[in-house]
Amino acid sequence: MWNGIIEQYRKFLPVTDKTPVVTLKEGNTPLLFACHLSKLMGDGIEVYLKCEGLNPTGSFKDRGMTLTISKALEEGSKAVMCASTGNTSASASCYSARAGIESIVLIPEGAIALGKLSQALIHGSKVIAIKGNFDEALTLVKEITRKHPITLVNSINPYRIEGQKTGSFEICDALGDAPDFHAIPVGNAGNMTAYWKGYKEYKAHGISKILPKMLGFQAAGSAPIVLRHPVKDPKTIATAIKIGNPASWKQAEAARDESGGLIDMVSDDEILAAYKLLAAKEGVFAEPASAASVAGILKLAKQGFFNERRTTNDERRIRIVCVLTGHGLKDPDRAIACAEKLKVLEPRIDLVLKEIGL
Ligand code: F0G
Repeated sequence: MWNGIIEQYRKFLPVTDKTPVVTLKEGNTPLLFACHLSKLMGDGIEVYLKCEGLNPTGSFKDRGMTLTISKALEEGSKAVMCASTGNTSASASCYSARAGIESIVLIPEGAIALGKLSQALIHGSKVIAIKGNFDEALTLVKEITRKHPITLVNSINPYRIEGQKTGSFEICDALGDAPDFHAIPVGNAGNMTAYWKGYKEYKAHGISKILPKMLGFQAAGSAPIVLRHPVKDPKTIATAIKIGNPASWKQAEAARDESGGLIDMVSDDEILAAYKLLAAKEGVFAEPASAASVAGILKLAKQGFFNERRTTNDERRIRIVCVLTGHGLKDPDRAIACAEKLKVLEPRIDLVLKEIGL
C-alpha cells in the first residue's frame, strides 16, 4: 500500500522514527505517455507527463509540505507562514490543518486562482491579501518569521526541497532510469532545484544511470532568470509563476549549468496553446503555469533543439518528461475564458439537433 512519500523514500529524507508523519498519502502520481505530443515532437521522441495535479491538494507542493509540516510538528512549532501565488498556501493550509498547527498565508491581492484561494480559506488558514506582488509578500514573510516563533514554509525551507525531490525518484522508478530531458515551469525556482537534487541522489546511489538535462521555462512577462535581472512588475496569465525575483535563482542556474540544460521563456499565447492542447488532445487538465513546460518543449522542437542532440547512431529514443505541476481545476476562470462561449437554448429537441448539426 502507498503511504506517502515519507514512508516510500524514508532513507533519502531527513526523518527519524521520532518524526510524526503528517501525510495525506501524497505522491505516486501518474507518469503518462503523451501520444499526441510525442507525434508532434517528431520521430523517436517520447514525451511523458508527470501529473502532479493528482496530489491531495492538486499540486506538487504536497510533496514538500508533508515533510515540512512533519518537521515543524517534530520541532514543536505552533504556527507556519508562507507567501504564495496560490498552491503553496493551499498545501500549507491543508497539511497544517491535519497537523493541528495554525497557518498564516500572504497572497497577492487579485492575483491567485479561485480554486487555490478556496482551499486556503476552507482549511482554516489566516489568509491575508496584500496590495502587492508575490515577491513583496515573500519579503514580509521572511522578515516576520525571522523575528517571531513562526515556521516559514516557503521553499527557502530546505525540507520543502527535500520532499519535492521525490518527484525525480518516482520518474526514475517508472522509466527504469532518468529521462534524457526534464522540462519544468520555473517560478520561485524551488522545484527545478528539487528535481535536480533528486536525480543526482538516485544516480549517486546507483539506482539510475544517467542524469537528465534540465529545461526550465519561465513566462515571458516574468522571466528574471532568462533576462538576468529581477523583474519589478511581473506579468503573465500563468499566475502561479508570476514571480520577479525567485528565491532559488542561483540553485536553478546551477541545475541548468550542471546538467547542460537551459532556462528559456514562453509567451502567454504559447502557454495557452499548450494548455488547450493538453486538455483537448491528451485528456489532461493542468493549470496554465504547468503548461509552460509543454509550451517550452514545443518551442525547442520547432527550433530543432532535440534533433541536434541526437547522434546518428543513436538507436535509443529520446525521452522527455514534462512536469504538470498543478491541476486545471485550480483555475476554472481561465478554462472558461479560453473556451467557446456557452450556448444557452430553450429545452426543445429541434434546437438542440440544429446546434449539433443533425
Ligand atoms: N507550477 C505551479 C502550478 C506552481 O504553483 C508553481 C509555484 C510553479 C509551477 C513553480 O514552481 O516556484 O518551485 O519554481 N508556485 C508557488 C506558490 C510559488 O506560491 O504556490 P517553483
